[in-house]
Amino acid sequence: MTAQIIDGKTIAQQVRAEWKLRADKLKSRGITPGLAVIIVGEDPASRVYVANKVKACAELGLHSEHIALSADTSEATLLAKIAELNADPKIHGILVQLPVPKHIDSDKVLNAISPDKDVDGFHPFNVGALATGNMRFAPCTPYGSLILLQKSGVSIEGKHAVVVGRSNIVGKPMALLLLQHNATVTICTSKTVDLAKFTRDADILVVATGKPRMVTGEMIKPGAAVIDVGINRLPDGKLCGDVDFDSAQKVAGWITPVPGGVGPMTIAMLLQNTAGGQHRQRG
Ligand code: GUN
Repeated sequence: MTAQIIDGKTIAQQVRAEWKLRADKLKSRGITPGLAVIIVGEDPASRVYVANKVKACAELGLHSEHIALSADTSEATLLAKIAELNADPKIHGILVQLPVPKHIDSDKVLNAISPDKDVDGFHPFNVGALATGNMRFAPCTPYGSLILLQKSGVSIEGKHAVVVGRSNIVGKPMALLLLQHNATVTICTSKTVDLAKFTRDADILVVATGKPRMVTGEMIKPGAAVIDVGINRLPDGKLCGDVDFDSAQKVAGWITPVPGGVGPMTIAMLLQNTAGGQHRQRG
């Protein structure tokens, strides 16, 4: 079997095109959704991600503010900036790129963002809403992964979904989203004893461990849908995922490539959360 490649670039373009139409309609009613993206520090990968998010906003005709703060910015200064954006009627979404420098408490920062402008879905209010089946803003990467499965025709209900990785950004919300769609969900970590025993039983396998190519073809059930959330830079400069694509694609039914799989969906869902969530501040 050779897996069907899930083309994240094309699916992300479709989502963006749908939201362009809706953003144009909002504009004709005098509403321009606005996103503020804050980055603290110089991490090169984060800078690229943030620049791409701001660029994508411009392409959709949204208002965007790119706030780059130096690595020695105090927690108090960052919290004051967030308070200012919470009160700014031009801004409908606020995102603080993670990780933040160690002297800043990321939980405090995420708690400070108004739950109505929390386009990342990381505020405990929105995490609780997702956990209780009342989704408001879903975190962009797992939400995008769910859309990839749905648009590829992968059935979720009643299937065994295994999520490898338990981060707040991907693993935990991914498990909640799959559960909400009536999958039977197992959460593993990179430390799970006999991980392959679990992954081999997965109809849907989502891998988000940050460990290059740790899931290989022999760990995958024939015909499974494999979503690779990892993006790792190898010593030779090439990018690879957390799944060994070459061996996995011979066994899986569907698989996302890296790059060009989940990555483009993160930005598409951020645009959706910004343009689709703007009504929350207008009452
Ligand atoms: N760092 C890695 N992924 C993300 C994300 O989706 N949102 C934010 N804010 N930071 C991240």
